[in-house]
Amino acid sequence: MTQPCIFITRLIPDRGLALVKQHFHPDVWSDEMPPSRAELLQRVRGVDGLLCLLTEKIDAELMDAAGPQLKVISSMSVGVDHIDVSAATARGIPVGNTPGVLTDATADMAFALLLAAARRVVEGEKYVREGKWKTWHPQLLLGADFVGSTLGIVGFGRIGQAVAKRAKGFDVRVLFHDPSAELLHGAQPVDLDTLLQESDFVSIHVPLTPETKHLVNASFLAKMKPSAILVNTSRGGVVDQTALYTALKSHKIFAAALDVTDPEPLPMDSPLLELENCLIVPHLGSASKHTREMMAYLAAENLIAGLKGEKLPNCVNPEIYSR
Ligand code: GLV
Repeated sequence: MTQPCIFITRLIPDRGLALVKQHFHPDVWSDEMPPSRAELLQRVRGVDGLLCLLTEKIDAELMDAAGPQLKVISSMSVGVDHIDVSAATARGIPVGNTPGVLTDATADMAFALLLAAARRVVEGEKYVREGKWKTWHPQLLLGADFVGSTLGIVGFGRIGQAVAKRAKGFDVRVLFHDPSAELLHGAQPVDLDTLLQESDFVSIHVPLTPETKHLVNASFLAKMKPSAILVNTSRGGVVDQTALYTALKSHKIFAAALDVTDPEPLPMDSPLLELENCLIVPHLGSASKHTREMMAYLAAENLIAGLKGEKLPNCVNPEIYSR
């Protein structure tokens, strides 16, 4: 068999790269920055397998630029909103993702953000570095209690459920909104309006789809308590950032903590960066060493299976196999 051509769009953790290299000789994009669109269109030409990240837009144009021999698209991510999955399905190309291995890391990040926003950790850190810490003051940087509060989880899939599991240890009441989810971890299913009206913390865990785009808009934010905190570790596009800016600026909600923005990276002139009550980190939900190694490993397994003509262990469009 002639060696298949493979393009890997970044230097992925060694656990995955080494696995691919045990079988094939991939072409790896080794710059820190992702390939530009033009470079990507050029480098995918003639490939049999593509291993990409969430930074690459994988659409019909790109699949056609690769050519009809393209057998598999494997993304080192659980979210696949950067991939036109329908276009891949129409071409009979399986698309792989990396579910499960990043659930705990992402739920931990949601908690880190939630507590940091509630207790104003980043503002406090900045206060110290700016030399403003003169004394212990009874009114200094007062935040919100998590214990005894109500946490509302929007989207109760793997990560939403892992957040609920963690919340149990804090004696909080957990509500969730997800018409397709089962009851778990003592969480109570409610409609979205009830969740927004009753929650002190609202954590978003839905995938980005046409239905969830700007789910968090002015009307969503207006239903939240003025003391409430929004946490988003899902996708930036789920939040209408203009509406969020207005709500934070006018103290319609207390604070927001975002791991994801739209676009990424967030431009330095984004008004959100002017706000003390908006904490933003650069999409670090799955950024633990072990998690990223496991994601790279799963992505490599999907790539290899696809190249061998086998079913991908984690496939987002399995319907291609029942044709
Ligand atoms: C990260 O956001 C992922 O989708 O894996």
